[in-house]
Amino acid sequence: MAKIRCPECGHVEETTGLLTVCPNCKADLRGVMEELGHRRERLREVARDDSVTTHEFIVRTKDLHKVYQMGEVEVPALKGVDLNIRRGEYLSIMGPSGSGKSTLFNMVGGLDKPTKGTCFIEEVDMAQLDAFELAWLRCRKIGYIFQTFNLIPVMTAIENVTLPMIFAGMSSDEMMERGAMLLDLVGLGDRLHHKPYELSGGQQQRVAVARSLANNPAIILADEPTGNLDLQTGKEIIDLLKELNEESGVTIISATHDLKMIDVSDRVVHIRDGQVERIENRADLDLEVGSMGAE
Ligand SMILES: Nc1ncnc2c1ncn2[C@@H]1O[C@H](COP(=O)(O)OP(=O)(O)O)[C@@H](O)[C@H]1O
Ligand SMILES: [Mg+2]
Repeated sequence: MAKIRCPECGHVEETTGLLTVCPNCKADLRGVMEELGHRRERLREVARDDSVTTHEFIVRTKDLHKVYQMGEVEVPALKGVDLNIRRGEYLSIMGPSGSGKSTLFNMVGGLDKPTKGTCFIEEVDMAQLDAFELAWLRCRKIGYIFQTFNLIPVMTAIENVTLPMIFAGMSSDEMMERGAMLLDLVGLGDRLHHKPYELSGGQQQRVAVARSLANNPAIILADEPTGNLDLQTGKEIIDLLKELNEESGVTIISATHDLKMIDVSDRVVHIRDGQVERIENRADLDLEVGSMGAE
């Protein structure tokens, strides 16, 4: 499903097919359709899942436990999480603050190690990887987006976006070309040389989305990506992630307590107190999101 906006009258039409004239003012929309086609082509390219494996589940966790040690005190953050995440799925993890969302993220993203249990990425047990293999996996397979954007303040937008490409060994010409293309894709083609403090929160998060795509990830992990944004800006980021998911097939795993996310998710995993409370399928979610106070 694509949203076409008429450049003449501003009418927005949702369509899955070809639209050559505006249903409202009859303006010629062929140019707009062509532009959309180009955008789709680029989206398909940027996060191509080029895995040689075709396992149904791109991520699996098995009896995942995490206990943080705070001096003498043990804080159990995850208490046995079993989760199978399908390739190409848009999965939201919902739960109140402190329920273990970020902890689960860090395990799946290989940023921290579980106390007990296993996390598989494409059936590879992450605990079995050495430091080099784990770094490769994090760099090539996964793109990360955080609530606080986590851009490097002294670097420009394009420097932030191309940083992960350095670690992937790309040439500097290629890096610049791809960096500019990615920033253009997220609507920041005219902000390449701005530093984070010269950008709004929404723009910074767009830079972070572009950076997450640096090395063609198969998975994007987004930890409360709209948490620091106002409603409208948050919605734009969610729409961008959904568009990426639909066009390129990248798997999106997003922690949130933003109800707007329910609308775009294939499944919603509710976690509470370090455990999966219930899982909802999009197909079964006959919810009126608007009536739940999301808008
Ligand atoms: N580094 C840490 N050291 C100690 N306790 C932590 C640490 N990180 C998280 N916790 C605790 O683990 C629980 C889950 O936290 P977290 O995963 O951040 O939840 P959420 O992201 O859902 O808000 C909380 O009780 C939190 O206080
Ligand atoms: Mg968190």
